[in-house]
Amino acid sequence: MKNILITGGAGFIGSHLVRLFVNRYPEYRIINYDLLTYAGNLANLSDIQDVPNYFFEKGDICDSENVDRVLRKYEVDGIIHLAAESHVDRSITDPFCFARTNVLGTLTLLQAARNCWSRGLAGDAGRQAMEGHLFYHVSTDEVYGSLSEPGTFFTEECRYDPHSPYSASKASSDHFVRAFRDTYGLPVKISNCSNNYGPYQFPEKLIPLFLNNIRHSKPLPVYGKGENVRDWLYVMDHARAIDVIFHRGRIGETYNIGGFNEWKNIDLIKVMIRVADSLLGHPEGHSLGLITYVTDRPGHDMRYAIDSTKLKDELGWEPSLQFEEGITETIRWYLDHQEWLDNVTSGDYMNYYEKMYGGR
Ligand code: NAD
Ligand code: TYD
Repeated sequence: MKNILITGGAGFIGSHLVRLFVNRYPEYRIINYDLLTYAGNLANLSDIQDVPNYFFEKGDICDSENVDRVLRKYEVDGIIHLAAESHVDRSITDPFCFARTNVLGTLTLLQAARNCWSRGLAGDAGRQAMEGHLFYHVSTDEVYGSLSEPGTFFTEECRYDPHSPYSASKASSDHFVRAFRDTYGLPVKISNCSNNYGPYQFPEKLIPLFLNNIRHSKPLPVYGKGENVRDWLYVMDHARAIDVIFHRGRIGETYNIGGFNEWKNIDLIKVMIRVADSLLGHPEGHSLGLITYVTDRPGHDMRYAIDSTKLKDELGWEPSLQFEEGITETIRWYLDHQEWLDNVTSGDYMNYYEKMYGGR
């Protein structure tokens, strides 16, 4: 494959994936298709914006005409689809926005890919024409719901049981991807990953939000008792897994991605406080008093834990970073990039597109 469209490439995970592909595969053309919602920030990619195999197209995945135009313009033969609304709390406030982007947006992309790659041919002829193309859908472990029994894990066979409007919309998008595989023979792959952490995450999510608040001595709002468990994976390990699955995973298959790295929220928050206080030159325990228990998130899933044995056994992928190392590097990155955090929290980053691509 030579021409790869990555949707949502200006977001957190997408920007790491775009950088990885642009640098690792100079023979590919990498087209970043992103609407630049509040979560999209082209400054995340400022280091590669002039690299010759990188292209940016501002656009909505729900805009079928524009998607079709871009697929044809670059003769796209592979799509890695990350564009989404991604924050559970926002999905509770505005579920329709999540249905639009995550469900209808994914359906729009699927339909455009099918139309373009099947060259308008129906049945077996269409299936044949689509061979050699790939629609890779990036999804979440949250579609599986919440684990209650300790020691149990989400496998690829687990029943879908989403609880939040976010996870319901992602579950629905996964179902549409499989429906296009089964109904039209679209070559697809899906991966479901656990919580990611690392640089460039929008400071509405737990880790960057709390680091930003520690920096400003603001309260740290812990939902409920802080006992919910998440399985944390370094974002570059997710990007590497997508690379491996994209190139070597079996067509039609689903792969779970996770680090076997479970943390109770409150324990993770205490690690963040310890490391951040030490890097900021504060005495030990200085920011513990910022912890503020607040009303729980409605429908808050208790525990996520991924079993990524299939990915390891079939494709040899394993996380590269130990958590202590990854979280320390991440905290150091946010404290070293306070300008990035300030630009995002002030809204200044929204002007980056105009500055870089003004008038286009
Ligand atoms: P993000 O919110 O940081 O970025 C989303 C990107 O999508 C932004 O650049 C935004 O501008 C773009 N976008 C939103 N709506 C769009 C639209 N209609 N058209 C085009 N672009 C649009 O998200 P993220 O955390 O990087 O997550 C990326 C993907 O990975 C999502 O599909 C998410 O469900 C999945 N995922 C995330 C995690 C995680 O921990 N963050 C874990 C597993 C899976
Ligand atoms: P988040 O980063 O929003 O990811 P997700 O909900 O997709 O897992 O939240 C991670 C965990 O942290 C989750 O259990 C909710 C909790 N949380 C808080 O306790 N306080 C907060 O302000 C946020 C944003 C999250």
